[in-house]
Amino acid sequence: MLNIVTLGDERLKKHSILVPEFDGEIQTLTEQMFETMYANKGIGLAAVQVGKLIRLFITHIPNDAARVFINPELVETSLEQGAFEEGCLSIPEVNADVLRPQQLKVQAWNLKGRPFSMDADDLLARVIQHELDHLNGVLFIDRLDPKKRERLVKRYEKVISDG
Ligand code: NI
Repeated sequence: MLNIVTLGDERLKKHSILVPEFDGEIQTLTEQMFETMYANKGIGLAAVQVGKLIRLFITHIPNDAARVFINPELVETSLEQGAFEEGCLSIPEVNADVLRPQQLKVQAWNLKGRPFSMDADDLLARVIQHELDHLNGVLFIDRLDPKKRERLVKRYEKVISDG
């Protein structure tokens, strides 16, 4: 199990770099990330959240397969947007509605080093966008208006100080 990097850690604001090669190290990291995500009841996790600043994230939403995205790129997003409550393993106990495109097309590489592209909608599209944001140093609270963001950060700090 890996430690999850939480709000306040500067690494969460950094831009992750491309995964240079698909080797055993990446395979092992991905397996450890799945264990860590499941243990924390998450549905998505980016490598930066376990302290690795590389462009890799995983998802596993209900009624879907476990998925690995390496060096992902958004190809297109729908004009149609929706609001949905998000949370993040790096900001425990804090949730807020975030407005995002409802559908998207993404391309990425899998663990075998093969490129793929896929369409996603609803929850999967949301998780993919949330995790892609992590690779660019963006948290879901950064997408809220500044006052709302500040309220949530205060709430989070209170949760942390209350233990
Ligand atoms: Ni997150």
